[in-house]
Amino acid sequence: MQHDYDHLQRAAKDHLWMHFTRHSTYDTSDVPIIVRGEGAYIYDAQGKRYLDGLGGLFVSQLGHGRTELADAAAAQAKELAFHPLWSYAHPNAILLAERIANYAPGDLNRVFFTTGGGEAVESAWKLAKNFFKLTGKPMKHKVLSRTIAYHGTTQGALSITGLPPLKAQFEPLVPSTFRVPNTNIYRAAETTGGLLDGSDPEAFGRWAADQIAVQIENEGPETVAAVFLEPVQNAGGCFPPPPGYFQRVREICDEYDVLLVSDEVICAYGRLGYMFGAERYGYQPDIITSAKGITSGYAPLGAMIASDRLMEPFLHGAESFAHGFTFGGHPVSTAVAMANFDVFENEHILEHVRDNEGAFRSTLERLLDLPIVGDVRGDGYFYGIELVKDKDTRETFNEEESEKLLRGFLSKALYDEGLYCRADDRGDPVIQLSPPLICDQPHFDEMEQILRTVLDKAATLL
Ligand SMILES: Cc1ncc(COP(=O)(O)O)c(C=O)c1O
Repeated sequence: MQHDYDHLQRAAKDHLWMHFTRHSTYDTSDVPIIVRGEGAYIYDAQGKRYLDGLGGLFVSQLGHGRTELADAAAAQAKELAFHPLWSYAHPNAILLAERIANYAPGDLNRVFFTTGGGEAVESAWKLAKNFFKLTGKPMKHKVLSRTIAYHGTTQGALSITGLPPLKAQFEPLVPSTFRVPNTNIYRAAETTGGLLDGSDPEAFGRWAADQIAVQIENEGPETVAAVFLEPVQNAGGCFPPPPGYFQRVREICDEYDVLLVSDEVICAYGRLGYMFGAERYGYQPDIITSAKGITSGYAPLGAMIASDRLMEPFLHGAESFAHGFTFGGHPVSTAVAMANFDVFENEHILEHVRDNEGAFRSTLERLLDLPIVGDVRGDGYFYGIELVKDKDTRETFNEEESEKLLRGFLSKALYDEGLYCRADDRGDPVIQLSPPLICDQPHFDEMEQILRTVLDKAATLL
C-alpha cells in the first residue's frame, strides 16, 4: 500500500500516542515507520530493510509475510467475525484450548483466553485468590515475584512487576506483592551480598530459590497465594535459571501450598526450542501465562493455562470465575493460532531452534572479544548482551553514561545499521535479541556483524 510519507510523519506526531515513548525524541527526528515485513526482515516507509532481531517484541516466531496465517484470519472473519466466550463457545477456541492442553506439561488442561500477556497475568493472580477463597484458605492472596522482572502494565500486573522506576508514576498500585532475588549469575556476588560469586551455579540457584521460602515465612505462609517467575527472565537481560532452581522452587511451593505461575509470555511457543519453558527446564507449574508467539503476531491473543485442580472448585453448583474480556479468545485470533501451530508442526520449528541455538550462541559469543561486552547469556533464540564499563571488575555504567550510551547512541545506531533490536537499561545496560525462529546462520552472522560495528564505535564514545 502506498502512503504519503510527509502526511504519515505529521499525523504520527500530531495524533499517535506511542507506547513507552519519549515523544520529545521526535521533535528533531522522524518517527520510524515500518510498513511491511518478509521472513526475518522488516521494511520502513522509505524502503530500507532491517533484520527483525527482536521478533517485533518477542512475538514474530514465524517471521513476516506468512500467507497461511493471513488466509486463516481472512477465512475466519468471513465465516464468523465475532462471538464472545461468555457462556458460549466457537470451534477455534475449543480446538485451540484442546491443542494447548495437549502441548502443556502435566495436568495443565484448562485454558482461559485473554487478548495479551498482561491480561493473562491479571487472570492468574485473580484465579489464585479466588481458588484459595473457595478451598478454605481465604487469607492467601499475596504474590511474590523477582527483582527487575517485567510482568505487564495493568495495575495488578504492574504491581507484580519488579521495576520500581516503571511503577513510581502510578503508585499506589495493587498492594500485597513482594520481591525475591532474580537469577543473574553474572551479578551473583552483588545479589548474595558477597556470599556466593556465581562460580557454583547450583549453589547460587539453591540460594535464590531458598529466598522464596524466606519471603513466604516473612509474609506468613497462610497469606501467600502465588509466585510469578519467567523460565528465562527477560528484563535485566536474559537470566536463565541455574540448574536445580525450579526444582527447589517447586518443592517450596508444595511445602507452603503456594501456586507456581510460570510467566511464559515470552518463553512459550518455541522461543526456547520447546512449546513451554517449563518443559525445557523440567518443572511443573500450576499455571502458565502466555501470549505473543501464540499467533506469531498475526492477531492478538493470550492464554492462561491452569491445572485441573485449579478449575475443579468452579465446576460445581453456582460457582463461576467472574472474570473475562470481550475479545479474549477472539475467533480470528484463535483461527490464526491454529494455523500458527500447524506451521510449527509441519516445518518442525521447535527442532529448528534446538538444532540451531548452539550456533546462535557461539556466533554471539564472538562479541566477547570486545571490551564493552561483559556477558552473553540466554537460551534458545533469546539472548541478552550485557555491556560493561570495565570488563575485569564488571563495573557497570552510571545513569548518565547509560543514557548517553543506550538512548543517545546505541538504539539509533543499531537501527541505522539495519538491525532492529532493543537496547535496554531497566537493569544493567543490555542489548536484547529475540529473532524469528526461522532464522539461521546467515541471520546470526548479520546480527553479529552489525553489533560488532556499532559496539566498537560505542566503546570509543566513553
Ligand atoms: C514476562 C511478561 N509478562 C507479561 C507481559 C505483558 O504482556 P502484554 O504486553 O501482552 O500485556 C510481558 C510483555 O512483554 C512479558 O514479557
